[in-house]
Amino acid sequence: MQPIVEIKDLQKLARRRVPKMFFDYAHSGSWTESTYRANQSDFNDIYLRQKVAVNMSKRSLAGTMIGQPVAMPVALAPIGMCGLQWPDGEILAAQAAAEAGVPFTLSTMSICSIEKVAEATDKPFWFQLYVMRDRGFVGELIDRAKAAGCSALVLTLDLQILGQRHQDVRNGLGTMGLKQIVQILSRPAWCMAMAKTQNRGFGNIVGHVDGLDSSDSLQQWVAGQFDPELSWDDIAWIKQRWGGPIILKGVLDAEDARRCVEVGGDALVVSNHGGRQLDGARSSISVLPEILDAVGSDIEVHFDGGIRSGQDVLKALCLGAKGTYIGRPFVYGLGAMGKAGVAKALDIIRNELGITMALCGERELSAVGKHNLHGSALP
Ligand code: GLV
Repeated sequence: MQPIVEIKDLQKLARRRVPKMFFDYAHSGSWTESTYRANQSDFNDIYLRQKVAVNMSKRSLAGTMIGQPVAMPVALAPIGMCGLQWPDGEILAAQAAAEAGVPFTLSTMSICSIEKVAEATDKPFWFQLYVMRDRGFVGELIDRAKAAGCSALVLTLDLQILGQRHQDVRNGLGTMGLKQIVQILSRPAWCMAMAKTQNRGFGNIVGHVDGLDSSDSLQQWVAGQFDPELSWDDIAWIKQRWGGPIILKGVLDAEDARRCVEVGGDALVVSNHGGRQLDGARSSISVLPEILDAVGSDIEVHFDGGIRSGQDVLKALCLGAKGTYIGRPFVYGLGAMGKAGVAKALDIIRNELGITMALCGERELSAVGKHNLHGSALP
């Protein structure tokens, strides 16, 4: 086997091991994928300032996100259906994150339920909430996350309806016909591993929501369950029911960022949902500076979108993000090698982040800032 050096190596392995429709679900973006591509390529326009002959010993990547200590400010983003990349994927990713000292965010659309992840881990994780039409059920989800000891609620604001991902439609994701069966059978190692777990449906939802029909496509299912009427006013009751730190995810606009401050968010995440929602929107990294300008220090600003290396993490932190999230990088690791793959993805990012920080002449992430970037290259 070739050595695994960068996130792309994990991506290649995952593509070979995971049935196409599940690999594509995580891998692809919406429509023309222009925003999805810009998320990554816009990082290339930001140049780092090299510093030499600076003492680079005793470096530290440690910090905090929403006041919680982290070994490095890189959380695992909420990703739906991790348990179909690898059996019990959410449990394994949560364990790998806990061992690496970074937050794990469990998606509402996970395969393993909140309770099962809590049972298999001994550190608190974060829970990502989608607001469904059935507000009673949303309240119960919040209560379940609280009972499981989750230490933050990540409320997704940019997915009241699902952006069309052409690849998912082509693959018939969420349906089971000949095409899907052929895709599954062409991955025998995955099939054998999946046969050993009971966790194959949406663990947080199946058995809790009426009218869930497994023959629906993902698009139909989201259209049926997710609440298109979600508004800023809902945040008050969600916050009250939850009673803990709340992170508002999916902000790409300065006015919306100010609303996050007004409704009392503890943090906001600059995000375009990994280029999976509004295709044609700007890249996350290009809007980060104006969001920071709009909110100043009134709310903690986190960042996701297009991170494929520790260098990307450093660039987002230099621009002023207090924390970052990786999605696809850890999912590729999970699909490639299960828990060891998630640990590998985090190792790769940590190593790249540490080396890059040092070559920029910094020993602590708390010291990095715009002075580490070339002004003319700022987005
Ligand atoms: C869910 O979060 C998705 O992007 O499919």
